[in-house]
Amino acid sequence: MSFSGTGKIWMNGKLIDWKDATIHVASHVVHYGSAVFEGARCYATPKGSACFRLDAHMTRLMQSAKIYRMEYPLDLAGWQNAVLDTIRANRMAACYIRPILYRGYGALGVNPHTCPVDAAIVLWEWGTYLGQDALEQGVDARVASWARMAPNTLPALAKSAANYANSGLIKMEALADGYSEGIALDVAGNVSEGSGQNVFIVRNGTLYTPPLAASILGGITRDSIITLAGDLGYAVVEADIPREALYIADEVFFVGTAAEVTPVRSIDKITIGNGRRGPITEAIQRAFFAVINGDAPDRHGWLTYVGGAGEKTEESRKTAVGTR
Ligand SMILES: Cc1ncc(COP(=O)(O)O)c(C=O)c1O
Repeated sequence: MSFSGTGKIWMNGKLIDWKDATIHVASHVVHYGSAVFEGARCYATPKGSACFRLDAHMTRLMQSAKIYRMEYPLDLAGWQNAVLDTIRANRMAACYIRPILYRGYGALGVNPHTCPVDAAIVLWEWGTYLGQDALEQGVDARVASWARMAPNTLPALAKSAANYANSGLIKMEALADGYSEGIALDVAGNVSEGSGQNVFIVRNGTLYTPPLAASILGGITRDSIITLAGDLGYAVVEADIPREALYIADEVFFVGTAAEVTPVRSIDKITIGNGRRGPITEAIQRAFFAVINGDAPDRHGWLTYVGGAGEKTEESRKTAVGTR
């Protein structure tokens, strides 16, 4: 994916041209990875462009900032409106949304408090992350030789730039060895997550996914899939998953804002199930795509329509109240 290099970027409350959205090389974030960010999506639906779970994403951004003692003068509504304003300014029907809070230019040293907390919102077009084919055929993954961060080292629940040094190692290793993705274990040797996705396995009709304490990012897609699986009548268990359970699973799939719902057809060259998308993965995928594409009623109030000045539509508000 390469950038078009055009359009507007939101920086500290101002919409500025893409080419002017630059920071100084002596900014704290460049040297110490001191940023927290989000990755959300806006989809084109029959009723107009809609952001998927914008409130949950911006809440997580604020929580990541809290963990890293970063203060910024925007509340949840302010963040949501800033994202919606940026989408409207760029007139994009569908896009990937990247809000970021970072320690800017002040002084260099480990102490981040000498630098201001700055913010930006960048949008770009982003199709299917692991390829359109992957949604049906599934991807080949390996178990990473890199573990996820140990508890109480780098906080996995914060979506911080620093954590992506680990993700980058996992992804590069997988690609170098001819796989699409890596699945990392936690320090106990149980399944954690992919480089940028959460993992589910299916066994005898039940879904299993690692718990938050397995050094995972608390994925918003993961949370949505747990809800949708429940709606479809499947039991979902959050439990430690030993590595070998991956190999003997009936189905394995990745979930995330970028990956959406992507089946895994092999791990370490061991075929998973029948070697292609399994029936439960397909059912979950259908349910998920129906919501994000606006083809199914927004029963959980997950869509924020861009045209609605940051407000959920009356319809989604009513159904959300009725179903939660
Ligand atoms: C490490 C990691 N885990 C999981 C996820 C999935 O999270 P979400 O569904 O909120 O996009 C992501 C996505 O950003 C990620 O980077």
